[in-house]
Amino acid sequence: MDRLAGGPLQVTMRRIGILTSGGDASGMNAAIRAVTRTAASMGVAAIGFERGFDGLMTDTWIELNARSVSGIVELGGTILKTARSELFRTEDGRSQAAAVLRHDGVDGLVVIGGNGSQTGGYQLSRMGVPVVGVASTIDNDMYGFDYTIGFDTAVNTAVDAIDRIRDVAESHDRVFVVEVMGRDNGSIALEASLATGADIVLPPELPFSLPAVITRLRDDIMARKKHHVIVIAEGAGRAQDLAAYINANLPVECRATVLGYVQRGGSPTRFDRILASISGEAAVVALSENRSGIIVGMRDGHVVLQDALEAVTRRSPLRPELVKLLGRVSI
Ligand code: F6P
Repeated sequence: MDRLAGGPLQVTMRRIGILTSGGDASGMNAAIRAVTRTAASMGVAAIGFERGFDGLMTDTWIELNARSVSGIVELGGTILKTARSELFRTEDGRSQAAAVLRHDGVDGLVVIGGNGSQTGGYQLSRMGVPVVGVASTIDNDMYGFDYTIGFDTAVNTAVDAIDRIRDVAESHDRVFVVEVMGRDNGSIALEASLATGADIVLPPELPFSLPAVITRLRDDIMARKKHHVIVIAEGAGRAQDLAAYINANLPVECRATVLGYVQRGGSPTRFDRILASISGEAAVVALSENRSGIIVGMRDGHVVLQDALEAVTRRSPLRPELVKLLGRVSI
């Protein structure tokens, strides 16, 4: 931080590019703002490529400056728009992107996104383009970080929804299966379950059997527990299918609710805004220090510069202490 306040930093960058890519996540705008303003404070210009790597390859961008990013820290989504680019997965697409950056005089690129986007950023860095990533995905599935931008907001949204569903479950003595996002990862399911006291949580990382779910419900019903909330991550199965199976195997009323994209949008929590601001600032400082092929985020309360290849190739496990806690309290 004190380096920004006038330390001995050698700034050779004149212009940086910023893009947001992959699934949007609340807090991306706060990151765009922090990157732009940190650059401005160093006398570095910023441009924002639109629609992720697609905008980079087609050279579609807007100028960003300290004033143009006013009033966005509290906004969900991304003012730069986002996309999952198929063309950028090809070598031709990436060569095109590198040529655009050279043509535009961009000295470094900040990629704000999750695993797929950071894989793209890493590949670009291997072609000699200075690239620093900012870890941002609601899935919280990036190796090397405790939390990624957007996860906290998504979990809070899921918690709010599950609390409401519990009211209905209690009033009607019903079983509810709530499906939350998480294609390959059960972070949202795990933390939302812990925070709401859900009865059963089914993340993709922990194998489960359908008969075991029925046995657990049957035991609970025998013990006079009349309502249940089951949280399933989308990567572990579909809520409708599980609800149908429960209805077919137990004398209960079971309903399914898919939370879906409400988890992706909305005003970011204070946690996501600050995480995004810290990460955005650190990304620009890293670029100015000629770092590349890294992703910025937080671990153990500190900013870390994580090797990008390791981050995108290693699996991020569920936090073991939370899994253990769930085993104790969700009985
Ligand atoms: O990457 C976040 C995520 O929300 C996943 O959990 C989900 O499977 C996926 O994005 C769906 O995104 P889209 O429909 O935008 O491709």
